[in-house]
Amino acid sequence: MQLSTKHLLGIKDLSSEDISLILTTASQFKEVLQRPVKKVPSLRDITIVNLFYENSTRTRFSFELAEKRLSADAINFSSSASSVSKGETLLDTVNNILSMKVDMVVMRHSASGAPHFLAKHIPAAIVNAGDGINEHPTQALLDAFSIQEKIGSLEGKKVLLIGDIMHSRVALSNIYLLKKMGAEVMVAGPPTLIPTYLEQALQVKVEYNLKKALQWCDVANVLRIQLERQNQVLFSSLREYNLAYGVSKKLLDGLQKEIVIMHPGPINRGVEIDSDVADSSQSIILQQVENGVAVRMAVLYLLAGKKAE
Ligand code: CP
Repeated sequence: MQLSTKHLLGIKDLSSEDISLILTTASQFKEVLQRPVKKVPSLRDITIVNLFYENSTRTRFSFELAEKRLSADAINFSSSASSVSKGETLLDTVNNILSMKVDMVVMRHSASGAPHFLAKHIPAAIVNAGDGINEHPTQALLDAFSIQEKIGSLEGKKVLLIGDIMHSRVALSNIYLLKKMGAEVMVAGPPTLIPTYLEQALQVKVEYNLKKALQWCDVANVLRIQLERQNQVLFSSLREYNLAYGVSKKLLDGLQKEIVIMHPGPINRGVEIDSDVADSSQSIILQQVENGVAVRMAVLYLLAGKKAE
């Protein structure tokens, strides 16, 4: 089976069949990653550039490891150490890299739509590793994979996204994916951080009371406050944010059930999540990171158009 798209620009463009194919393929690669030799020759004829115009720890290392595990040749670009500082444009930069026989581009950029722009102008397949406040498709895929692994099929599961929904590309990609796969989605946070169009346009529930939201869900995905993307004050202080919307052990202990706690990282301990929640047995935060490698292997492998071995 093949994906219906040449690029992975966003979950918005994927069908539910595409998503299932990626998740099934990721399961196969996760099995490979449990072996003593965690490597397959699938992409040994492929060269990939990791083009990061914005900082990253998890996504960047995860893609790099996925490429190594697939035997691809990988080169890494960081805008701060490149000729971007001399005024070179995005398109000139990419065309120069592609002229060295590079086949695929993994790209993170602070501008929403940057990978979509690139896709109109270059022949190589592009994987969006996060564009501004738009999408972070591989994060949503690894989140879905991790939920399935923990509690089974996404169909009918109640998933809560908490926090800075307005500036979160993780939230938008998760909402698209979870709705396509039959999950129920609720967002919770301060009214100033929840876009008013969400409820109508994407059929998500909105709840401003965190305790009620937690009582509703099976899974809570806690998001970071994206201070770097906020150009105005949207809540009173981080301390007050923590009091109203921080996920604490006391809140979780007051529920009648045990829910799954997720976070895409990086975590701001003591702001959106307390340490005794982030590090608890309810938390699958590090499993999400582990699963990111298998999911990104699946995406790269499928976009390279290879048959299963
Ligand atoms: N989750 C995530 O995108 O983390 P990084 O910014 O470290 O890649």
